[in-house]
Order: sequence, then C-alpha cells, then structure tokens
Amino acid sequence: MSSRNNGPVSKGRRRIGLMTGGGDAPGLNGIIEATVRSLGGEPVDIVGICDGFDGVYERRTVLLDSDTVLNAHMNAGTILGSSNKSSTRGREDEFLKAFAELKLDGLIAAGGDGTFEGLSRVIRGLKLIGVPKTIDNDLQGTDVTFGFDTACAVVSEAVDALRATADAHKRVFVVEAMGRTTGWIALGGGLASYADAILVPERPVSRAALKAHLESLKAKKRRGAMIVVGEGAHFEGESATVAFRVEGSHQVDRLGGISLEIARWIETEIGWESRNVILGHLQRSRHPTTTDRFLTAAMGVEVGRMVTENDWGKAVVVRNGLVTRAPLADIMKPPRLVDADHRWVRAAISMGIFI
Ligand code: F6P
Repeated sequence: MSSRNNGPVSKGRRRIGLMTGGGDAPGLNGIIEATVRSLGGEPVDIVGICDGFDGVYERRTVLLDSDTVLNAHMNAGTILGSSNKSSTRGREDEFLKAFAELKLDGLIAAGGDGTFEGLSRVIRGLKLIGVPKTIDNDLQGTDVTFGFDTACAVVSEAVDALRATADAHKRVFVVEAMGRTTGWIALGGGLASYADAILVPERPVSRAALKAHLESLKAKKRRGAMIVVGEGAHFEGESATVAFRVEGSHQVDRLGGISLEIARWIETEIGWESRNVILGHLQRSRHPTTTDRFLTAAMGVEVGRMVTENDWGKAVVVRNGLVTRAPLADIMKPPRLVDADHRWVRAAISMGIFI
C-alpha cells in the first residue's frame, strides 16, 4: 500500500491511527477490514500507519476507508506492512514527537509482546486499544489469538501430506513448527494430524523415552512415523537451538533447526532413516481459516465499538469463546505456556501420542 503523510482530514472528525506490529499473522487484514468497515458511518478517519513503529518514526501513513480495505480479509500478511525488528527502546522521545505530529486522537495497535512492550514505554498520554496478535497463541489474557488456527492447519496439512512419502520410504519425518518458547502450534498441529510424537519446549524431551517410543512403533512394523516439534523444543538438560540473531529486536534469538538435530539423532541412535521439514513462514502465509475469519470479524467490529464509545486503555480479547474487552495490562504479561494438564496434552496422552 503506497503511503503518504495525511494531515487532518475533515473538521469535527476524529483521527484514529491503526498499526500492525511484529510478525504478521493470518487475520491481520481481517482485523483491518472489519474495523474500518464497522466505523464507515462514524465521524472518524482511520489513518493506517505503515510498517509498524517505522511508520511512526518516518511519518508514513495512509487513509483507510471501506473501499480501500474491501476484501483484504482473504489474504495473509497485512496491507499496512509490519516490522519484526524495530522498537521504541532508547527512542521513546523520538517516538512521542513523531506520534504527536501525526495528530491522532487515539491508536489501535494489533501486535504481540514486542509491540506492546514497545508501546508500554510511551504509553503515558497515548489513547490505545490493543488487539493481541501472534500465530504462537502465547499471549496472556486471551483464550486464543487469530492466526493460530491457520498455523495449526498448515502443520496438520503438512503432516498429512508427508505421511505418503514417509510410508513409501520407511522414514521418520520430523516436522518443525514455529512458536518460539511455547509449543502451542506444535501441539495443535500435531494433535490435529494425530502425529506419533509431539515435542514442545515446555516438556524437555527424554532421549531414552523418545527412543523407546520409536522402537515400539518399529516393533509394530510401522513403515513411517511422524514427529511434530516446536522450534523451541529441546532435549532434557539442553537448550533450544538458535538459528540466527536479530540484534536490537525484541526477540534477539530466532529459534530453529532442532528438527534436523532430531532427525540425525534418530538415524544414528535408532537406525530409522529420517528427514526433517521446517515449515517456517508458510505457517504465517496461508489464507486465514474460517475460524480465524470469524474471530477477526468479531474482534474488528468490537474495536469499532470501542472507538465509537471512546473506550481506551483496553484490549479486545477472547474469553470463554466470546469476544470481549479487558485491561491492556492483561495481555502484557510473560508468555502463556502449554501446561501439563491442558486438555490437548491429555488427549494426546490418551491416544498414545508421545508428548
Ligand atoms: O512470533 C511469531 C513468529 O512467527 C515465531 O513463531 C517465530 O519464531 C518468529 O516469529 C519468526 O520471526 P521472523 O519472521 O522475524 O523470522
């Protein structure tokens, strides 16, 4: 979307900023479209901020209306652009000065922990509505984040597809899911595809137990086997595998590569030929599932209501299956981990899945 620096548009109308920050998540465009369309008849101008925090520093904005956002919801990504590396750390005054020049009456920010940590540094005096966003599903204060269902669908579809070649070649496939330090995507995608083993960071893997599980499958004359591993998973007493670093960002260590280590270990230790597949950003690039579309439509409409009612300082969240409002502080806590007693963990154990 090409940007320009919009000044105040029409008298008597409020100017509300809309920003998408951090890693994109399928459904962001649905949030944008639903929010803008639901405010279509209100005396409000929605000013899209381009590329997350960068658009504030560089005063790059674009005016959004019902026509410009029409049918954006179908696609992953974000029509506003985003950044997973810029921050407000050490640039607080610069941010506030630039933000003041945008002459906004309030800001709607769809983001994850990095975005809200960045905004919390400058939040005094900022009228903010938070929209929790991450495919990782690890934000506190909300039962679920949009994009997570789509990411799980990518994982389960990949596992379903890879079974054919795994069986054809009598191989183990180790499929690596995103999720940073939490295992929600691996758990959701692994359970949905009835994988043989699901490895998540919250449950360090015992080499002996995993070996025994795979050997029991071999003893049953299984041709292929499927393992889903979260990128932050690791063996007992070891730490997560770091793929590379993005200095200066909220999340400096970018995790990845554990699936290759596990595949090599299985071949050496168990003598079962193995391959790894890292799904990576495919998990963020699929068209949103209907579940994510329902969610973002409802959340965007709720954001529109909050703007109309001048209800700032809150986040739009999901509680007990319903879209509702909560204090912003609720979503600014440490990551929500997969707990040992979660119903999906129990279901996996009941089905004989190694977890
Ligand atoms: O937080 C979302 C996420 O997709 C993580 O699951 C992953 O570790 C990270 O972002 C990847 O970041 P980047 O897009 O900067 O490589």
